[in-house]
Amino acid sequence: MSLTAQDPATAPLLQVRDLSVRLGPVAAVTDLSFDVHRGEFLGIVGESGSGKSVTAKAILGLLPHSADIRGSVKLEGEELLGASAETMRGIRGNRIGLVFQDALAALDPVYTIGDQLVEALRAHTDISKRAARKVAADLLGEVKIPKPAERLDSYPHQLSGGQRQRIIIAAALIAEPDLIIADEPTTALDVTVQKQVLDLLAEVCQRRGASVMLVTHDLGVVAQTCDRVATFYGGLLVEEADVFTLFDGPRHPYTSALLRSVPRLGQDTPFQAIPGSPAQIYIGLYACPFAPRCEHAEAVCTAGVPPEFREGERRHRCVRVGRGEL
Ligand SMILES: Nc1ncnc2c1ncn2[C@@H]1O[C@H](COP(=O)(O)OP(=O)(O)O)[C@@H](O)[C@H]1O
Ligand code: SF4
Ligand SMILES: [Mg+2]
Repeated sequence: MSLTAQDPATAPLLQVRDLSVRLGPVAAVTDLSFDVHRGEFLGIVGESGSGKSVTAKAILGLLPHSADIRGSVKLEGEELLGASAETMRGIRGNRIGLVFQDALAALDPVYTIGDQLVEALRAHTDISKRAARKVAADLLGEVKIPKPAERLDSYPHQLSGGQRQRIIIAAALIAEPDLIIADEPTTALDVTVQKQVLDLLAEVCQRRGASVMLVTHDLGVVAQTCDRVATFYGGLLVEEADVFTLFDGPRHPYTSALLRSVPRLGQDTPFQAIPGSPAQIYIGLYACPFAPRCEHAEAVCTAGVPPEFREGERRHRCVRVGRGEL
């Protein structure tokens, strides 16, 4: 822990420290630490069940009351863990924008897009309905919805999945948040539309100088849009580096396997699935969670949870790499 007070100008926008989340018998997240700096795009990748959504929800105060949450989550130095439900509602509406997978669930089916955006705008600023409608139409234009003024009168079900997700992005921008947390925002869409929506998300956030924490299984999108990447496995952050360093030479065997599993553009190398199934961690983590699937596993890997090894700006949690054996 730092002895000096953090300078707000250089302190990370979001600082997660030693976050552990237990949901009933499941250790969903263990000892997780990372930062998101101002204007930075952090990609979070990892197989299903690795704790990505639980992390996003812990930051946003969206986990069930029964969750056992430890550690610290600070937004501009302000502790969010343990904050009241009302404070967290304010944070979600104003300072952190949310873009989750299911746009249909996020939009109310009985109100038009215009009504929903106008209401959200008026909750944030003291403007007339007419002025809010104009701002809403401009927002739809910004997220590249064709004929925005007409679209305001549409109901969610009258739009395509890609358009609905663009509207969720527009809604997330209303309060001009410093941080957008996007959790697999395009998984429900078909592949070409996914790319368009992610490009759009990156473009509008860049233009507005917002930071993004992007949870995705799409490494191509991470390579194109993110500054840094964190790999999750079994609720543990197993590797983090800037995007070029990580793609150029992953250090952790799981990151290597993950990168190998993606067919490269323009190459004929076949897709290589990672053998074995993703970890489900019960009771607690006492070893490297990847050990059952790791071709390099030895006794030392199950002697305890691998500590964090730092190499300059990058870090990982592989004991054997840390010892210089791999
Ligand atoms: N509400 C819940 N109750 C119990 N276990 C949960 C709950 N939500 C998630 N989990 C478990 O926590 C682990 C991490 O889940 P999650 O963060 O959703 O993974 P992902 O990386 O796919 O987003 C998984 O083992 C999952 O089964
Ligand atoms: S700690 Fe051991 S089991 Fe885990 S990734 Fe490294 S070599 Fe593999
Ligand atoms: Mg998830």
